Amino acid sequence: MPEITVEVPVQETSYALKIEKNLLDRVGEEVSQQFDGQKIMVVTDETVHGYYGEKVLEQLKAAGYAVQSIVLPPGEQTKTFDSMPAIYSQFIDFGLTRSDLIIALGGGVVGDITGFAAASFLRGISFVQIPTTLLAQVDSSVGGKVGVDLPEGKNLVGAFYHPELVLIDPLVLETLTDQAFSDGMAEVIKYGCIKDRSLFDRLMGMTSRAAVMNQIEWVIETCCTIKKTVVQADEKDTSERMLLNFGHTLGHAIEAFYHYERYSHGQGVAIGMVELSTIAEQQALTQKGTTDKIIALLKQHHLPTVLEKPEDYDKILPYIEKDKKNFEGNLNIIVLNNIGQARRVKTDRQFFSILESGGTTA
Ligand code: GLY
Repeated sequence: MPEITVEVPVQETSYALKIEKNLLDRVGEEVSQQFDGQKIMVVTDETVHGYYGEKVLEQLKAAGYAVQSIVLPPGEQTKTFDSMPAIYSQFIDFGLTRSDLIIALGGGVVGDITGFAAASFLRGISFVQIPTTLLAQVDSSVGGKVGVDLPEGKNLVGAFYHPELVLIDPLVLETLTDQAFSDGMAEVIKYGCIKDRSLFDRLMGMTSRAAVMNQIEWVIETCCTIKKTVVQADEKDTSERMLLNFGHTLGHAIEAFYHYERYSHGQGVAIGMVELSTIAEQQALTQKGTTDKIIALLKQHHLPTVLEKPEDYDKILPYIEKDKKNFEGNLNIIVLNNIGQARRVKTDRQFFSILESGGTTA
């Protein structure tokens, strides 16, 4: 049989994460240092548009670009495959070409769906992330995971497609609701749990949102440095990057079971980290006392640590079967050795079966 080998040089990617208060006032300048095309499509949502849309659009126009915006309804319900055709249509109506730019201005939903649109339209258009939630600033805007949800589960369609630049202005966090801020804190706490004991300990000393905001540049830089190190080691999420999923397998199942309405991502992850660590302690996989420390820190940042209706667990657990990390009955879960050190364990759904009797604390 004839056999031909196709050797395609893999292009290395590198991009800057710029973190600075009031960076949003310099968007035009920052983008023009990076992009010398003509058209920019800004994708945002109604909430973010209300706060920052005009500021960003005006600056880009002043920098000489032809600019249009797509303003999506806010919330996880927008991040579906069904939203894509209307987005592509607006790209076409604007006449976007491969030498133009797309900007994602918003939280994780906007970043994920815009990144996926950028990855797939014309087989790839450059894009810039301007994350406006804490969760997006410390996690979803970095590392190139983009995608949308299907009715069967979260993030089931997507790509690894990195932005050209990430512009992080911590001052935009001032307009977040307390719940959205806490949501991001769940991911910040997760970084401490899996990789950085000193981050975890320092967070214990920050007893309010204001206290976190006093050190916000350091917090974001610390989390983004952990994320970039993990992504550099394992871009495609087959080993080291899976550590970032601590608490997420159960968290995603909780979010999905309640149709993304009752628990936010951070809340699901917070409960997921607690339940998982409790089981891992019971199985001597995690040092005793670790879960109590996690609970204390989550409570300090107003995150839930138990499911309100633990009797729902027997209906929630089947959602774990749909998790992308669940391959033919093998489930990769992340457990902590102790605070600041995590590892992967291959198991199966049975690991969570104790929850069927109503949660680890029942
Ligand atoms: N948010 C998890 C990851 O980027 O891998």
